This record gives sequence, structure tokens and C-alpha cells, in this order.
Amino acid sequence: MPATVIVGAQWGDEGKGKVTDVLAQRSDAVVRYQGGNNAGHTILIRGEEFKLHHLPAGVLHPDKRAVIGNGVVIDPGVLLGELEKLAQKGHAVRNLTISDRAHVILPWHTLLDGAREDGRSAVGSTKRGIGPTYADKAARDGLRMAELVDPEALRAHVRDHLPVKQGILRALGSGQVIDGEAMLRNTLAYGERLRPFVADTTTLLQDLHEQGQHLLLEGAQGTLLDIDHGTYPFVTSSSTTAGGACTGTGLPPSAIRDVWAVCKAYATRVGLGPFPTELKDADGEYLASAGKEFGTTTGRKRRCGWLDLVLLRYATRLNGFTGLCITKLDVLGGMHKLKVATHYTLDGQELRAPPARADQLERCTPVYQEFRGFAKLSEADTRRIVQRGLAELPSPAQEYLDFVHKQLHVPIRLVGIGPGREDTVEVRA
Ligand code: GDP
Ligand code: IMO
Ligand code: MG
Repeated sequence: MPATVIVGAQWGDEGKGKVTDVLAQRSDAVVRYQGGNNAGHTILIRGEEFKLHHLPAGVLHPDKRAVIGNGVVIDPGVLLGELEKLAQKGHAVRNLTISDRAHVILPWHTLLDGAREDGRSAVGSTKRGIGPTYADKAARDGLRMAELVDPEALRAHVRDHLPVKQGILRALGSGQVIDGEAMLRNTLAYGERLRPFVADTTTLLQDLHEQGQHLLLEGAQGTLLDIDHGTYPFVTSSSTTAGGACTGTGLPPSAIRDVWAVCKAYATRVGLGPFPTELKDADGEYLASAGKEFGTTTGRKRRCGWLDLVLLRYATRLNGFTGLCITKLDVLGGMHKLKVATHYTLDGQELRAPPARADQLERCTPVYQEFRGFAKLSEADTRRIVQRGLAELPSPAQEYLDFVHKQLHVPIRLVGIGPGREDTVEVRA
């Protein structure tokens, strides 16, 4: 059975965790394929909230497999902490496999990320060590899970790299001194505890796929944070677009049929970088407060704005979306009017695709189409819409969704009208 990829269509935090959780019920395995603990995926099940950073949403489905693929970067202490927290809540994870080829975030990566972020070239990073770890991977200088769980290989890596990394930290003006002995002791212990989970997930996933199992590939971050296609340099360091699902798992492109976009009914961005439809007025404040727009990983306030079809068309073509999952439609309830950017103008020219440079995107002026707003949905409205389908939505909300789907030429497959698993309207093909 072909695999399905879940991709964030905007700048992350679109609700991928929730959508993955809903779709996981019809899958055999849930697989993370890129990013690390810069991600924060929230899942609300019958009032209980889970915030997953490293773990795929599949860990909350004990009868499914949960896999961390080779394209992910892993902070072993954070991953173990996450496993412990789940166990304390009564959800001990027994269905997890971690790729032996996934790269390890070591303490110097986190310190280097912080030092860079505090310096002159800040991008608003989550300071989780993601960029420096992917940089070492590309430089063929990283440590993988296969070596983390081998004490000899780990000792040799730390011995060879610590003086260099300490030197770079000094050169960046950081006063941080790494205690090599303590670091090695902790990391050896992490390797010991994670060893039972580590395996060749490339072969595992290929086998499962060939056996006809359905794999759900859970993206992290979003299209506009992609290292190649995002708003560079204000991006993350991995391939967040659908192609990353192949390189980050070892599955061939022919194994994938559906690529589902997760897209908020408006737009948000956390961290620095251009955001043409950003609202710095009462409407922006309304979205932030109604949508509870605070980062899941860092707690930072998310910037809010109108939906941007220039960027969504770009995301649709990059990923080849076959289905749209529109989340947080309920948050628009209570606004008098709604706006959607259809194109930009820049220096007197009309633009239908984003320019390459962040400073040019910053200067783009969005041109909007206006829509009628609709009243806040009551609990009774929500239950009725979930039970009977999208035809029960207020008509301005239907017009809004219809416009988006027609502009992108992608069918709507799921609509979120509340944070819970049960606040989801699925549209069967
Ligand atoms: P992710 O990183 O893409 O998984 O998204 P986050 O979990 O960081 O942020 C999405 C936030 O929106 C979370 O707090 C979710 O509980 C919440 N959420 C998801 N879908 C909906 C929805 O349809 N309506 C509302 N009101 N909240 C939602
Ligand atoms: P999920 O999976 C939103 C942003 C950071 C920063 C930039 C680079 O929850 O959607 P990094 O730490 O990756 O070097 O930061 O990317 N960013 C995210 N924004 N959601 C995320 O993940 C993000 N992961 C990274 O804010 O602007
Ligand atoms: Mg998030």
C-alpha cells in the first residue's frame, strides 16, 4: 500500500501532530523523517494534552509502530526525557524503533546554536542544536545513533571533536566550557539506555511497505522553513518538503502516493524572517489570542497574519499536495471580515510566486480578496458539524474554504474546528 506524507504547508505549527494522530488510526506505522526536537507537535486526546518533540504521534497508538527515521537529528537526553514523561502518564512506549543512521545532537551542537543565535546572524532558532548537527552531517563529521550505542566509537568521537568544538565556541565569544568527562559519562549512559530501540529502520520500512502495510510519514516544521525552498536564511536545516520523506526514511518516491498538506486557516510564524501577510493590529492580536498562538517548543509568541495563497500555491507545487487538511478554522469565528492574499506587488510588478531573497519578500505588498466573517462556533455547532459534515458550517466559512480549494486545485480532506481529536471533520474521497 502506498505511503502517505504529512507536510506543513506554512511555517510550522499548522497542527501536523493532530492530523497525524487522526490519520494514524488507519495506518500501520507512523514515521518521523526530518527535524529534531525543534518540533513541538500537540495532540489532545479526550482532554489529555501531549506535546511530542522527538517522538512520532504513533507512540500514542500502542498497536502501531512508531519509527524515527534516518533523516531526523536526535538529542538523546531529550528523547529519553520524553519517553520517561510518557511512561509517568501511563503511556510507556514499547513500539518505537530509531534509525541507526540518524545523527546525534551533542551538547556542543546546542551550545554552538545558542552562541550563533546570540551573535550577529540570528534566525530565531529554537537553540536546540539542529543547525550545527545537520552542518556536521553534511560535513561528514557527525555522530550517528549506530556510534552512540558503541562505547568505543563514542569515546573516539568525543576525544577527536571536543577540542575543535571548544575552540569554535571560544572564537564565537562563548564563555561556555564543556566538561569532557561529564559529557562522555552522560552520553555513554544515554547510548546504553537507547540501544534496545536502535535498528536499521531503512530495511524495516522497506519491508513493511513491501508487505503492504500503510506508512504515515509525519513531517516536522513546514514548507517555508525548508533548507532549499524556504525563506532562506530564515529556515531550518532540513528538507521539510515531501522529498525529505524519501531521503529521511530510505523509501523510494514510488512508495508514496498521497501528500497531505496541513495548513492553518490563517498564517503564523515563530522566529525571525519575512511574513508578507503579517498583521500587527487588532486582527493579529485576535488570532493570537483565539488561536492560543504560543510556541509548543519555546513558548515564544507566534506572529499571526492572513492566509497567503502566493506561498500556498508555491507549497502546493513543491510538494504535489493531493489533499488539504485545513486546521483552526474555528479560530476565525468572531471576525467581521476575512482576507486572503491572492498575489503580491513588488516595485510595480505583480508577483504570483515568492522571490528568492528574504529582503525582497519582506518588501512585497500582498493584494487581498475579502470574505465575510462568521460567528464563533458553539460547542453544539462543533458537534453538529463533526457529525454531519462541512455543509453544516456557516456559509461564509464554506465560501472561504471553497475559495482556497479552488485556488489551489487540491481537494479538502480534513478540517479542524477545535484542538481535540474529536473536533475534526474528515471528508471522504
Ligand atoms: P504542529 O507543530 O504542526 O504539530 O502544531 P503545534 O502543535 O505546534 O500547534 C498547533 C496548535 O493548534 C496546538 O496547540 C493544537 O492543539 C492546536 N490545534 C490543532 N488543530 C486545531 C484546530 O482545528 N482548532 C484549534 N482551535 N486548535 C487546533
Ligand atoms: P513544528 O514541527 C515552527 C523555526 C524557528 C526558527 C527557524 C530555525 O512544531 O512545526 P531551528 O531551531 O530549526 O534552527 O530554527 O525555524 N522552527 C519552527 N517554527 N514550528 C516548528 O516545528 C519549528 N521548528 C523550527 O522558530 O525561526
Ligand atoms: Mg509545533
